Amino acid sequence: MDDWLIYRGVGAPDPQRIRALPPPPPWRAFSGEPLPGPVPPIDASSLRRLGARVGAPPAQDSRTLELINAALYLRRPLLVTGEPGSGKSTLAHSVAHELGLGRVLQWPVVSRTELKDGLYTYDAIGRLQDAQLADRRHHPGPTSPAGPTGDTPPGSGESDDIGRYIRLGPLGTALLPAELPRVLLIDELDKSDIDLPNDLLNVVEEGEFALPELERAADRPGGHEVRVLTDDGRRVPVRGGRIRCHAFPFILMTSNGERDFPAPLLRRCIHLHLDPPRDERLAAMVQAHFGTGADERNLDLIGRFTSEDGDGELRPTDQLLNAIYLTQHTVRTEPGRREEIAGLLMRPLDTRRS
Ligand SMILES: Nc1ncnc2c1ncn2[C@@H]1O[C@H](COP(=O)(O)OP(=O)(O)O)[C@@H](O)[C@H]1O
Ligand SMILES: [Mg+2]
Repeated sequence: MDDWLIYRGVGAPDPQRIRALPPPPPWRAFSGEPLPGPVPPIDASSLRRLGARVGAPPAQDSRTLELINAALYLRRPLLVTGEPGSGKSTLAHSVAHELGLGRVLQWPVVSRTELKDGLYTYDAIGRLQDAQLADRRHHPGPTSPAGPTGDTPPGSGESDDIGRYIRLGPLGTALLPAELPRVLLIDELDKSDIDLPNDLLNVVEEGEFALPELERAADRPGGHEVRVLTDDGRRVPVRGGRIRCHAFPFILMTSNGERDFPAPLLRRCIHLHLDPPRDERLAAMVQAHFGTGADERNLDLIGRFTSEDGDGELRPTDQLLNAIYLTQHTVRTEPGRREEIAGLLMRPLDTRRS
């Protein structure tokens, strides 16, 4: 019945399943020439969030699974909304872990974030300084020009390798023509300035972008292919100053629901609303971090965490995890302090005011 699900939320890695993902619909097929290379391995930031015992299933309901898979099939970004601590960001790590898609590219958004930050940075000043140094080395003496002006254009000699001064951001790296989709987490998009969602939409629609600095260099000898640094710290070739994706990345954008997004963005995303974890899902999270049976051992804290939220106050899951961790250590020395410590850590959090 659920055979079509590629991501099944089982917790355990099953990297072969992504190979069963059918080709994209024609309107979401991208023509970047695939860049061979291994998938960068999943890193500690994913394991920290998923818990050391990542084998424990995160227990997602069928609607959540269907929407995640819809985004995978349709090559559309997944917009995940929900209160802080409901597990939005961790979802990106779960997908990468289970489908063997490697390191999660993370792009935390703040009000100053611009599209360009996610695509790439060009260190023009560093390049100029290197050009000046190289120039001094080649023309020593007091008459040497102050900069790479005159007959020595910037970018000559060692500094001619413009790729050394370009570093792709998380979005730019996600759009490299990889054979398997990369996972990109655009975290807290609702914190962005008003233009970012629309700017982002254009790039995500096209699945490609230009690096004008490289486009200009493309006609010069040796300028057609330039090796640039990725967000993973690798060097990859870029041809003709454009990056065009091959397998469309799995893009997960999160929002605490602090603001409404423009209609064109919503139309082109798959929208998933995550409720705060309760019951099975919460028990699975506790076990993921503290081992099998930890949910049973901490029923009192879980009960306290879930029962007090009838007042509509927000209480992120992190508080419960912190309380379980800390009480494990304190009760050994001071029995009876468990309740007190839990009360100290588990407090309603009205983030809507922050
Ligand atoms: N699938 C999961 N397995 C284990 N722990 C999880 C899982 N999902 C969320 N958590 C834990 O719950 C907490 C809140 O999750 P997070 O993704 O940061 O929420 P949000 O992004 O919605 O604020 C984190 O500490 C994380 O470790
Ligand atoms: Mg988050």
